[in-house]
Amino acid sequence: MVSEVWADTDTLDAVAVPAPGATPPGAHIAVHQVSHQFAQAQGGHLPVLDHVSLQVQPGEFVALLGPSGCGKSTLLRLVAGLEAPTTGQITQDGQPITRPDPSRIVVFQDPTLFPWRTVRDNVALGLQARKVPQAQYTRVDAALELVGLSEFAASYPHQLSGGMAQRAALARALVNEPQLLILDEPLGKLDSLTRLSMQGELLKLWQKAGFSVLLVTHDVEEALFLANRVVVFSPRPARTLTELPVDLPYPRHRSDPRFVQLRQQALRELGLSDVSA
Ligand SMILES: Nc1ncnc2c1ncn2[C@@H]1O[C@H](COP(=O)(O)OP(=O)(O)OP(=O)(O)O)[C@@H](O)[C@H]1O
Ligand SMILES: [Mg+2]
Repeated sequence: MVSEVWADTDTLDAVAVPAPGATPPGAHIAVHQVSHQFAQAQGGHLPVLDHVSLQVQPGEFVALLGPSGCGKSTLLRLVAGLEAPTTGQITQDGQPITRPDPSRIVVFQDPTLFPWRTVRDNVALGLQARKVPQAQYTRVDAALELVGLSEFAASYPHQLSGGMAQRAALARALVNEPQLLILDEPLGKLDSLTRLSMQGELLKLWQKAGFSVLLVTHDVEEALFLANRVVVFSPRPARTLTELPVDLPYPRHRSDPRFVQLRQQALRELGLSDVSA
């Protein structure tokens, strides 16, 4: 049953909802005129990003669409602080991003769980690394419950399905109470039913917790279903072709005429004709 995929989102209160008066849950990210290139083994440089500028407002959900290999994951790595841009600047709440930080958590397409750790210990990883007091480890159980993995807390990654492993990776991100969730095709390897279900739950999670989200997806409908704004990139080196504000209330319906119109617009920008139109 699809409803078994995720547990009740009420458990979120224990995971990510900030106390009254606490720091706002969503980071403001500003990418300013960022260009990036990689040195090539045969000499020369591969230009990957070309003067990219974009903003993620506090609590905003922004999706990035673009052809394969255009530079989307590279941009996410720069925002995460895993690499520094060749030129340009990226800031979080006005401060330059110079290194990874637990306030910005990346979830990749491959869940990259440690095979020798149980699911619970994988999820607890960030808390252990930050020496968070044991008393706060209830967050681990809450996150596991949220993604419907409580029963598998003592299992090892090889005992999980692909979807379950990805849910564990998401739980591992949530225990850190991120201000920015950076998602690189996080649902890309899931079967279509699980994927649809998880899109809905990701939406609820974001609406309740209020963190900002930067999502890369190849799925135009997924981007339009989830995001406040969709940024479309050119082929490599990525330039911003357009930004589409998704002016539709949640929950969205894929058959809504405006949804269909936005979908056609995004596909046109990507140079793809909409076969179903
Ligand atoms: N560490 C690296 N060293 C050298 N080249 C790299 C490195 N990382 C990425 N590239 C190159 O940069 C380009 C953009 O890669 P990137 O992974 O950002 O694309 P992408 O838009 O995420 O693609 P996809 O949609 O297929 O995931 C590719 O040509 C890739 O070969
Ligand atoms: Mg990528």
